[in-house]
Amino acid sequence: MPKITFIDATGTERTVEAQVGATVMEAAIRNGVPGIDAECGGACACATCHVYVDEAWRTATGEPGPMEEDMLDFASDVRPTSRLSCQIKITESLDGLVVSTPENQG
Ligand code: FES
Repeated sequence: MPKITFIDATGTERTVEAQVGATVMEAAIRNGVPGIDAECGGACACATCHVYVDEAWRTATGEPGPMEEDMLDFASDVRPTSRLSCQIKITESLDGLVVSTPENQG
């Protein structure tokens, strides 16, 4: 199973095993990773699953779609590496993915 590392705002790293076909948000919630609220349950309607994708993984994870871009306007401290983690589908090629969670969601 692909491994994903989440780094929180204090620098603490948590690496979890994720299922192919699930989303990065689901991997975080299932494994009790703090820092992702996911209030809408993955419908791209809340922006509380905001993460920063590690620079080295930006190509692999791709760019946000138009709906995600609109939703990101509601997130705080948005950066060029910002994504909504419920919109990143896990594939084998994302094994080793590193994302950081912001200090606050929403
Ligand atoms: S969980 Fe709501 S936008 Fe991702």
